[in-house]
Amino acid sequence: MSDRDDVRRAYDEITTTYANERNATRDDEETAALEALFDGLPAGFRLLDAGCGQGTPALEYTLDPSNGCDSELAVGLDLSRDQLETATRLVPDVALCQGEMTRIPFAADTFDAITALYSLIHVPIDDHRTAIESFARVLKPGGRLLLTEGWTEWTGSNPDWLETGTEMRWSMAGAAATRDQLESAGFELVERGEFRDALADEEDARFPYFHVRLME
Ligand SMILES: C[S@@+](CC[C@H](N)C(=O)[O-])C[C@H]1O[C@@H](n2cnc3c(N)ncnc32)[C@H](O)[C@@H]1O
Repeated sequence: MSDRDDVRRAYDEITTTYANERNATRDDEETAALEALFDGLPAGFRLLDAGCGQGTPALEYTLDPSNGCDSELAVGLDLSRDQLETATRLVPDVALCQGEMTRIPFAADTFDAITALYSLIHVPIDDHRTAIESFARVLKPGGRLLLTEGWTEWTGSNPDWLETGTEMRWSMAGAAATRDQLESAGFELVERGEFRDALADEEDARFPYFHVRLME
């Protein structure tokens, strides 16, 4: 089986645990970055959440009327069928699609924004550039992308992630390489910062995020 199959199978196995852990705490920086992303979008925007998992926090944010989002279409894309099943319960009003973020099954210029929170970091490193180019293809000119990465290049696994007994794999290209890939694909930086990942093994683990705009 490929690394991708391993990641898909692992998320199929741990979906309930992952959703519970992910939703147990909220990171203020992450909420602020989502606010900044959605504030910059036109009324009636179309959002793709790439590697949406259980649908929180990005799809959930667009559905919450108190956030003032005016989306015409919100789509969650994920490799894992069980993650998508969990999303049908947590974000019942969005369109969900099983698929691969390196080959996004939508026409060019479809979306105003893409979120890819903690998902590109599971795509094999050699395919990160293809995934980022795939984001650029389906975004409209001027469209926004919010994605997380690792600070440094690292590929590895945890044999017992979240104490589930399931092995999980990650493939991080690192912030510098990701910045280069974003620029090559035609993105300009809007904002860069870091999120605190409460699910990481290390205390106070930080993950860089990029909020970028596709140049017209
Ligand atoms: C850590 S979870 C993140 C879920 C959600 N975005 C969040 O912020 O909690 C990573 C998700 O990415 C999905 N994923 C991993 N590789 C993928 C790929 N190549 N294409 C689409 N989804 C992928 C996994 O199935 C999993 O649901």
